Amino acid sequence: MAISRENLPQHVAIIMDGNGRWAKQRGLKRTEGHKVGAEVFRNIAKYCSDLGIKHVTFYAFSTENWKRSKTEVTAIMNLFRKYLDEMQRRAEENEEAGYNIRFIGSREGMPKDIVKLMDTVEERSKDKSNTYVNLAVNYGGRAEIVESVKSIAEKVKNGTLKIEDITEDTVSAGIYTAGQPDPDLIIRPSGEYRLSNFLLWQSAYAEIYIDDVLWPDYKPEDLDRALEAYAKRNRRFGGV
Ligand code: IPE
Ligand code: IPE
Ligand code: MG
Repeated sequence: MAISRENLPQHVAIIMDGNGRWAKQRGLKRTEGHKVGAEVFRNIAKYCSDLGIKHVTFYAFSTENWKRSKTEVTAIMNLFRKYLDEMQRRAEENEEAGYNIRFIGSREGMPKDIVKLMDTVEERSKDKSNTYVNLAVNYGGRAEIVESVKSIAEKVKNGTLKIEDITEDTVSAGIYTAGQPDPDLIIRPSGEYRLSNFLLWQSAYAEIYIDDVLWPDYKPEDLDRALEAYAKRNRRFGGV
């Protein structure tokens, strides 16, 4: 691939959106779009890793997505189950690839067997450091900040932290992606111009790239295009 390795972002985050529309366009059920979307996730995660992008985050299910029909939510949960099970069975392959897999989001409200599978996959990959893959499941940016604030309040209450010592780093240390760099580039396929509660704290200076391609159609070439655009951006971080 002729993509420039210069100015490669350290952390790319992708909102995997458009599965439903993709299915509708083909006269299929929305769940068929999710199935294809899950395959695309696998390919694009591997492509990011091959390119040498160190951190990748994929938005798979938001805290608001529970509002959808029971049929759709159940189908999505079944897909997670299937993929997690496969991840577990393919653990050696993933170990070889050096994926450090983490699930970001709230475990609360998730089916218990899925939580167990998530824990197992995380545990088995925790010492790997080739590519850090975060999968945002039952994730909400606001909920994440609330969790961090609660843990800070707890420390203040029990006297291990002084209010005057609370800094941005204190909040960052309490969020799911603690220890990882903030996303440099957030990509949203499917043409919506919003973050939909994704990485709110971390996205302060992220570059945003919106693409019209629907996620099930997303190809490595589409990622190349986003990376090319990113490489040309002038990031100022408030400076001149
Ligand atoms: C993203 O695709 C997947 C999830 C949010 C689970 P959508 O299901 O939101 O697809 P559209 O936006 O309806 O096309
Ligand atoms: C964001 O997409 C969540 C995921 C892709 C997992 P949505 O489809 O839920 O976002 P809205 O509802 O269009 O803002
Ligand atoms: Mg959507």
